[in-house]
Amino acid sequence: MSEKAEASVMEKVVALCKRRGFVYPGSEIYGGLSGTWDYGPHGVALKQNIKNLWWKKFVTDREDMFGVDAAILMNQKVWQASGHATGFSDPLVECKKCKRRFRTDQIPDKTKCPECEGVLGEERQFNMMFKTHVGATEGETSVSYLRPETAQGMFVNFKNVRDSFNPRLPFGLAQIGKAFRNEIAPRDFTFRAREFEQMEIEYFVDPRDTKKVTELFDAWFESQLAFLTDLGLSTAKIHKIEVPASDRAHYSKRSIDTEFDFPFGQKELFGLAYRTDYDLKAHTDSSGVDLSYYDEETKERFIPHCIEPTFGVDRLVLAILTDVYTEDTMGDEPRVYLKFKPSIAPIKVAVFPLLKNKPELVAKAREVFTMLKKEFGSVMFDDNGNIGKRYRRQDEIGTPFCITVDFDTIEKDQAVTVRDRDSGKQERVSITELIASLRGKLV
Ligand code: GAP
Repeated sequence: MSEKAEASVMEKVVALCKRRGFVYPGSEIYGGLSGTWDYGPHGVALKQNIKNLWWKKFVTDREDMFGVDAAILMNQKVWQASGHATGFSDPLVECKKCKRRFRTDQIPDKTKCPECEGVLGEERQFNMMFKTHVGATEGETSVSYLRPETAQGMFVNFKNVRDSFNPRLPFGLAQIGKAFRNEIAPRDFTFRAREFEQMEIEYFVDPRDTKKVTELFDAWFESQLAFLTDLGLSTAKIHKIEVPASDRAHYSKRSIDTEFDFPFGQKELFGLAYRTDYDLKAHTDSSGVDLSYYDEETKERFIPHCIEPTFGVDRLVLAILTDVYTEDTMGDEPRVYLKFKPSIAPIKVAVFPLLKNKPELVAKAREVFTMLKKEFGSVMFDDNGNIGKRYRRQDEIGTPFCITVDFDTIEKDQAVTVRDRDSGKQERVSITELIASLRGKLV
């Protein structure tokens, strides 16, 4: 695809997201707040479906995983010990003329302002954590930060979970929650935001068996890829990148980034890092609390190592939206539709009466709607405009199936027309068999 075409796909996706209630600019009626986005009803549903699948795959379907939900605000000592207070920064330069600020690694000419061509000042490190104060008095001791990663909430709860559940290695903690970074240059819609959501796992392993550690690391990578298949993402757009030492985070001995072909280029979707004992050791040293593990069999005590699969929810949502956005022609008319895998579609089924002004059709359609809503939850009733328009609206939000109740339903066959989003094909299905028929297809 040409650069222009890629840019226009992005513009169309952003416009569709706003028009159809997936994603809105944050604080829009006040002119917005850079790097913040609000999810509308369909965006929330899509995000929730992704989070539910993730939680099921990585927590409830496994025996070795423990969920936590730690506070976003944490003692500032957490961030001193983790290295974020001193090291979580990006290189920044300021234009001497227009005073705009840029991330040095994102501008082609390090000497000239990309906006006004003015001279750029000295590079300095800019810490990306949002600083705040806890309590009524503002001083050095009241300083706290909005967490820049959910990971630390799990490291500081390692001992709690170990004491409560006494798990044996290997085992992991998992958490889904908000993270905040004061990005110098938020860009590409929700790709680089200042407030976003992460789904992270800290998986603790026995470092004495290095072969097993490598096997587990590789297995986690495969599980991450399998999750993308679960979501229906095009595999041809996914790339595995072994991150060179010079580009790895300060805590990582080995990292694999999974990159995706977004319309604005091949970019990081999520990551996998071998954090070794970096965090548990740092928190043991800093807090004085013993975060080691005692092996009952060998009678040895050691600090476990950690493998961290981390996922950005917003980047997954964006990757999916740009991947499923499809334009084609149906019935000689151009149409836009979102080709979601049914399991993640915000609305699973839409139910229509053929005509709005025929009470008997509306009553029957509502009966079918109530029955399906009870079964599938995300079901919509729509009697606005003609059937063609209703199909187009549902196509644009990616509803896999539309059901129409017509006169034959009442007078002849107690059956409805089920229309498939992708092919437009219609079939007649008896109301008594409708739930079973849809259940098989909504996966
Ligand atoms: N705990 C490790 C960690 O936070 P990271 O690579 O900095 O690692 C993990 O972040 C994931 O969070 C990224 O792969 C990405 O999906 C998401 N992410 C990071 N910064 C983001 C931002 N500014 N906006 C949206 N998502 C972001």
